[in-house]
Amino acid sequence: MLNAANVGPGEHVLVTGASGGVGTALIQLCRLLGAVPHAVSSPGKMEALTALGAETVIDRTDVTDWPAAVAEATGGRAIDAVMDLVGGPLTNPLIDVMTQRMSARRSYPRLSIAGASAGNVTKILWTKIYLNQVQIFGVSHGTRAEAQRLVGWIRDGALQPVLHRAFRLSDIHRAERYFMNRDLDFVGKIVLVPDAQWEQHGARFAAPEALS
Ligand SMILES: NC(=O)c1ccc[n+]([C@@H]2O[C@H](COP(=O)([O-])OP(=O)(O)OC[C@H]3O[C@@H](n4cnc5c(N)ncnc54)[C@H](OP(=O)(O)O)[C@@H]3O)[C@@H](O)[C@H]2O)c1
Repeated sequence: MLNAANVGPGEHVLVTGASGGVGTALIQLCRLLGAVPHAVSSPGKMEALTALGAETVIDRTDVTDWPAAVAEATGGRAIDAVMDLVGGPLTNPLIDVMTQRMSARRSYPRLSIAGASAGNVTKILWTKIYLNQVQIFGVSHGTRAEAQRLVGWIRDGALQPVLHRAFRLSDIHRAERYFMNRDLDFVGKIVLVPDAQWEQHGARFAAPEALS
């Protein structure tokens, strides 16, 4: 997503769905590229996202005016690119975040899309896209070279997959119920571990029975 939008060092990037598996990777990857990530998330996750590298964390449940909220968070610094994992009603106001003050920008607004957690339909004015030269990138995969670079960062410990909880594969229904409980303040991935490897890889990340 970051490469598709040609994000470079020093650029400010807004990441939606920042607490999820993809979002937590994007926050870290921004820092690895020298960019400055701003997270959009729900309450209770600020500390974890800041520890991962987020410069600011915007509580999406407490925003009515997105351009104003983002400007307040960034101290008025323009957002160079938005990495959008949620779609739905959030995408249009996040384009507004980038197009409000075009004269303050150093590059055209860039939007990478790779998810639709908030909805698969978004209404956007065509005129807003073409008059502001908004560049939109749909992303489902990268190149082999990019994958090798990612694995290198993971091996070095520079990029850390964020694991929230593990469940036995045979316990998949409990894992799904846990995943669907959006009231839990979880950050990162929920992982299923084959039963035969549970003691070695899963047990220390087990979900307490009370939360299932
Ligand atoms: N393009 C691809 O190839 C590809 C690959 C993997 C995943 N995906 C897609 O990318 C998205 C993220 O994947 P993931 O594995 O990171 O999912 P995830 O772990 O479930 O994270 C999604 C995050 O989105 C936020 N969210 C959920 N509902 C929302 C809503 N209604 N409005 C705003 N934010 C909402 C939540 O964070 P907060 O509550 O903290 O805001 C949640 O943690 C999914 O839509 C997935 O299908 C695409």
